[in-house]
Amino acid sequence: MVCMASDRPPVAHHRPQAGRSAPLPKFRVLSGIQPTAGSFHLGNYLGAVRQWVALQESHDAFYMVVDLHAITLPQNPADLRTNTRLAAAQLLAAGLDPERCTLFVQSHVPEHAQLAWVMNCLTGFGEASRMTQFKDKSAKQGADRASVGLFTYPVLQVADILLYQANEVPVGEDQRQHIELTRDLAERFNGRFGETFTIPKPYILRETAKIYDLQDPSIKMSKSASTPKGLINLLDEPKATAKKVKSAVTDTDTVIRFDAERKPGVSNLLTIYSTLTGEGIADLEQKYEGKGYGALKTDLAEIMVEFVTPFRERTQQYLDDPETLDSILAKGAEKARAVAAETLSQAYDRVGFLPAKH
Ligand code: TYM
Repeated sequence: MVCMASDRPPVAHHRPQAGRSAPLPKFRVLSGIQPTAGSFHLGNYLGAVRQWVALQESHDAFYMVVDLHAITLPQNPADLRTNTRLAAAQLLAAGLDPERCTLFVQSHVPEHAQLAWVMNCLTGFGEASRMTQFKDKSAKQGADRASVGLFTYPVLQVADILLYQANEVPVGEDQRQHIELTRDLAERFNGRFGETFTIPKPYILRETAKIYDLQDPSIKMSKSASTPKGLINLLDEPKATAKKVKSAVTDTDTVIRFDAERKPGVSNLLTIYSTLTGEGIADLEQKYEGKGYGALKTDLAEIMVEFVTPFRERTQQYLDDPETLDSILAKGAEKARAVAAETLSQAYDRVGFLPAKH
């Protein structure tokens, strides 16, 4: 796999300095996912969560369910609570291990909202207006109905990342602009108040940066824009998932070849197939030479069923034991707060806030 962010970031001045014999501290990663849709979709998994699982082995990893971000669009309170647990359960089912990473809920760590305020005050109005996700979402809502929270959403994301001094941020392509904003604001803060924040890099795998809608391969698979047939929800009935794969849009040609521009539908299926099985695209092209799209889709449908069936079962097991789930999240929040509180207190001090006497 080619990783676009494979260069190691320089060691930031404030990273713990290892002694001569001590092992070098691990690079840190941080990422988040919204608990808005209930089930994760295949784009979330292949574009982001799969990398989170791998990175917990090599990095000091912080992953969170971003419920503060979720309320930038209207949420039913009971659904939000249910979906927050459901998101955590899916992350564990996907392979996150609370012994290897810090998994928490964003609203359990109040420092996120506190640092976001400071960063809001460093962000230009025009700069925030240029965020394409805001433009898309507010266009859908109508400018009057879009909240100020939706407008400053990317700045909260900036705070999320900077609080943990993250070196890398594993996400899909649609988040790149928010990471660029994070870098800009971190540099601005450091320039104005003195070195405080690590400048993070996006960690985006080229192959899975953007998984496309199965019915309209010109748009990304997404909970808001995709039609039900174009969207693979990991918690759907496996049979329904198989059906969607089998009726994915391809083209009038019959040749199975990766060509993202001319054959976007087939190329998307090849990407999904290759990522789930580890078989290279060139090998797949050879394997299906002379066979029609039907053969590829039937096999991929089976692969998908094999993937989602245990995923659903594991998710259900975590949901059936909410006490264990909540205690994993409580421990995660405690670990996260220890890091976040230290960064916030440094940032508050640099800005010039008078320390509170206890
Ligand atoms: P969210 O919840 O929309 O999506 C979670 C992750 O899934 C990726 N993704 C995709 N990747 C490839 N192809 C697709 N079709 C696809 N659809 C979604 C997203 O890029 C994302 O990585 N703003 C973020 C959450 C967030 C965050 C953060 C991320 C809040 N704070 C701090 C990183 C660091 C979001 O809404 O992701």
